[in-house]
Amino acid sequence: MKSYKVSLIAGVCIGILSSAAVAKTNPADNAQYEKRFPKQYQSWEKTAESKEVTNALAADPNLVILWAGYGFSKDYNAPRGHQYAITDVRTTLRTGAPMKADDGPMPMACWSCKSPDVPRVIEEQGEAEYFKGKWAKGGPEIVNVIGCADCHKPGTSKLRVARPFAERAFAAIGTPFDKAEKSEKQNMVCGQCHVEYYFEKTAEHPNWVKFPWDDGTSVEEMEAYYDKLKFKDWTHQLSKAPMLKAQHPGYETTALGMHGEMGISCTDCHMPRVTNAEGKEYTDHNVGNPFDKFEFTCATCHEQTKEQLQGLVQANKDKVNTLKLKAEAELVKAHFEADAAWKAGATEQQMAAALTDIRHAQWRWDFAIASHGIAAHAPEEGLRILETSLAKTAEARAKLAKVLAAQGVKTAVVIPDISTEAKAQALLGMDMEKMRADKAIFIEKVVPKWEAEYKATNGGE
Ligand code: HEC
Ligand code: HEC
Ligand code: HEC
Ligand code: HEC
Repeated sequence: MKSYKVSLIAGVCIGILSSAAVAKTNPADNAQYEKRFPKQYQSWEKTAESKEVTNALAADPNLVILWAGYGFSKDYNAPRGHQYAITDVRTTLRTGAPMKADDGPMPMACWSCKSPDVPRVIEEQGEAEYFKGKWAKGGPEIVNVIGCADCHKPGTSKLRVARPFAERAFAAIGTPFDKAEKSEKQNMVCGQCHVEYYFEKTAEHPNWVKFPWDDGTSVEEMEAYYDKLKFKDWTHQLSKAPMLKAQHPGYETTALGMHGEMGISCTDCHMPRVTNAEGKEYTDHNVGNPFDKFEFTCATCHEQTKEQLQGLVQANKDKVNTLKLKAEAELVKAHFEADAAWKAGATEQQMAAALTDIRHAQWRWDFAIASHGIAAHAPEEGLRILETSLAKTAEARAKLAKVLAAQGVKTAVVIPDISTEAKAQALLGMDMEKMRADKAIFIEKVVPKWEAEYKATNGGE
């Protein structure tokens, strides 16, 4: 069996250990790097200060209806600090309450953007073995939060893309990591995770993570890619449309914004070079809101004050949010109208074209909104995408009106009361109390076992 017991002293002894002995340290154990890289380590630890949980479904119950029949309608929170990635993937109702390694509902792929243990396991076992099985299989192996070895060659300051599936995607769009310029490398380390991806369903790659970039990275190109594959993430519970769930294509959309086009990287704004009290310069690893370190981020290029720039960003946020809510309201109507058409006896043939429009409209809405920060990164692209979503929904609703008329439905379809998260979930027949009770048992009984097992096999904190 492998032993990582030496990991804590490796930092000190590295000069005298043979390379074989060094290889025995656990590269994913973040704590071992503190002694050698205290400034980077301590600023990285500060991502724990962004701890607020924002329940996005409570804030906007439309989301429950838009994701009806899919995990996101159970539970969805806004992103917070990198230190919470493991806690949050364990506690979200989307991962269920698996009591055994082969219990569902999610596949192993769901760990892929949460931890430096992911590249560690892939290096030890290969991708095929890593992606095999259910999410719960990975519990005792994936424990460390997003950390040093996710972005660096272990034990060094050299940047790397640690995930082979990400490296293949960058190569597919023409720039393997090693050939990229410095600012593009800085984007790519974030783009291992802050991207659109899906779980492949091929015989060679069952449930492998893939970025759908083979034909391009715009919202339209990825949509066409998925259509060509006839890929769907789920069938909508109400409309029965073959749906796509956009993930978080921040890397793709940021590139289309003014800063992205000028080659300004994610790290210029989110991980700036700062100077501490002793006058030492280093990279601030507290990835968070760039306005919190204004003098080292925006102010390095802009003359405006923090308030002025925050005002400009806020104005763009308001514009995006207004259009987002408009797009959602129309999509919600379309799902209920399709539901009414099915209930009135419409056939698959009658419904097909409208359902394709709903698929495309919701994909576009989701793509814009799940690109967290799009109002700051690429407001024009965000607004453009949302406009195309609205146009597609209008087409869907016009088609549905014809189907409804053909089926003899004369009155407008009434949208039920979905004014709170709980009402919307009850309407869909979701038993939230049971899901929460099961999750509590899982957190109490299963998670401590995973942590103990990890420590026994891999060492570390
Ligand atoms: C999300 C990606 C990411 C994570 C996680 C990360 N780093 Fe970095 N790190 C960077 C980037 C980007 C730079 C800037 C260097 C560059 O662009 O070449 C950097 C620079 C460094 C440097 C070079 C000196 C400096 O301050 O610029 C050291 C040392 C370093 N990181 C250590 C660490 C340690 C230790 C950890 C874990 C506690 C860590 N990094 C976690 C992305 C990351
Ligand atoms: C290993 C995957 C991974 C990498 C690499 C990564 N992120 Fe993240 N990032 C995440 C996840 C997952 C979350 C959400 C964590 C949560 O809410 O539990 C997140 C959250 C964030 C947030 C929200 C933080 C907050 O306090 O609200 C920002 C901003 C962010 N990432 C930017 C970046 C930037 C910039 C980089 C590159 C320097 C980067 N990330 C690299 C996975 C990653
Ligand atoms: C020009 C500066 C700039 C660049 C470049 C930039 N960002 Fe941002 N980012 C921001 C600002 C400003 C915000 C919004 C902060 C706020 O809400 O006040 C933001 C927000 C975010 C958020 C949402 C955080 C949350 O809690 O909702 C994520 C995630 C994120 N950025 C990731 C990235 C990634 C990944 C890249 C590179 C592909 C990137 N950013 C490039 C300035 C930038
Ligand atoms: C590396 C340099 C650099 C950094 C860092 C940077 N910007 Fe910019 N930004 C620019 C440049 C250059 C332009 C284009 C100016 C122009 O064409 O008028 C620009 C344009 C903008 C615009 C659009 C101008 C307008 O009037 O609408 C906004 C808004 C903006 N930046 C906000 C920010 C914010 C907020 C941050 C920090 C989170 C930031 N920028 C960080 C260089 C930078």
